[in-house]
Amino acid sequence: MRVLVAGSRGLIGTALVTALAEAGHEVRRLVRGSGEYTWDPPAGRIDDNALKGVDAVVNLCGSSMVNRWSAARKQMITDSRVEPTEVLAEAVAEYEIPVLVNASAVGFYGDRGDRVLDETEPRGEGFLAHLCEAWEAAAAPAKRAGARVVHARTGLVLSRHGGLLGVLKPLFRFGLGGRLGDGKQYLPWISECDEAGALRFVLEHDSLSGPVNLAGPEPVTNAEFTRALGLALHRPAPWRVPAFALRLALGETADEMALVSQRAVPAALRDAGYAFIHPTVDAALAAAR
Ligand SMILES: NC(=O)c1ccc[n+]([C@@H]2O[C@H](COP(=O)([O-])OP(=O)(O)OC[C@H]3O[C@@H](n4cnc5c(N)ncnc54)[C@H](OP(=O)(O)O)[C@@H]3O)[C@@H](O)[C@H]2O)c1
Repeated sequence: MRVLVAGSRGLIGTALVTALAEAGHEVRRLVRGSGEYTWDPPAGRIDDNALKGVDAVVNLCGSSMVNRWSAARKQMITDSRVEPTEVLAEAVAEYEIPVLVNASAVGFYGDRGDRVLDETEPRGEGFLAHLCEAWEAAAAPAKRAGARVVHARTGLVLSRHGGLLGVLKPLFRFGLGGRLGDGKQYLPWISECDEAGALRFVLEHDSLSGPVNLAGPEPVTNAEFTRALGLALHRPAPWRVPAFALRLALGETADEMALVSQRAVPAALRDAGYAFIHPTVDAALAAAR
């Protein structure tokens, strides 16, 4: 396949481009600024050459969500996802590209305690849940034009190159690791290899469309994750960061990203026959150490 990837310089995009190239697919990187194929999402402009003859588009755009969220920051988080999706969905429709795989997140489900969350679950509450809804809705022009549209509802990607572990590993290495709040909240993780592998699988399997959870088959609680990361790094992680301290430091971000419980499972991937390279959090953390 000839695949156009937006957000290709990011954590997931870098891994995906490598996985696609290794599998013999031709990849075009769509970048802001200078490059072979360029675009300007706020201006609604995409290089004509980028779109011609393309079999699929993967959109992995979005500014960082880490940090305390001000109103301006929330707007930027939203705009950097919804706007590029709108532009790409219109382009997919205009150029009759058969497939659009668009990033989304397990944040769609909101804070749901112990409930097992497959793709049939409704949207939850909170900023991220509403953001994910708008992000997914922005792909509508592609769907209306008859393209196969997949919303890749991704969990926390465990990578040796950054992301969540880029923040946690130094803390744990200094012996400052600990669970967050009561540690009972579920954390839907996925290894970087499986994130890229599942995106490739979704591209190659026509039976998949609509929401697809990209999360490992065995979600763990924050306390279990903390213990597993401590073991993987050979460091004890005895501390507990109280919920009130997290809220003081991070405001709303604490509830939406650190204390939220999302027991998301990859039902659509499992039904379609995807075999996880790292089916347990221990295996994923060993690969990301
Ligand atoms: N990593 C995770 O754990 C995780 C979990 C759930 C969902 N996701 C979602 O998956 C997507 C990719 O994640 P990632 O971890 O690879 O992110 P990342 O490393 O921060 O990369 C994000 C990419 O988005 C592009 N971008 C940033 N701001 C943009 C803007 N205003 N307009 C257009 N493009 C913009 C950048 O593209 P350029 O190359 O053009 O600079 C960059 O390559 C994001 O939407 C993220 O929310 C990630």
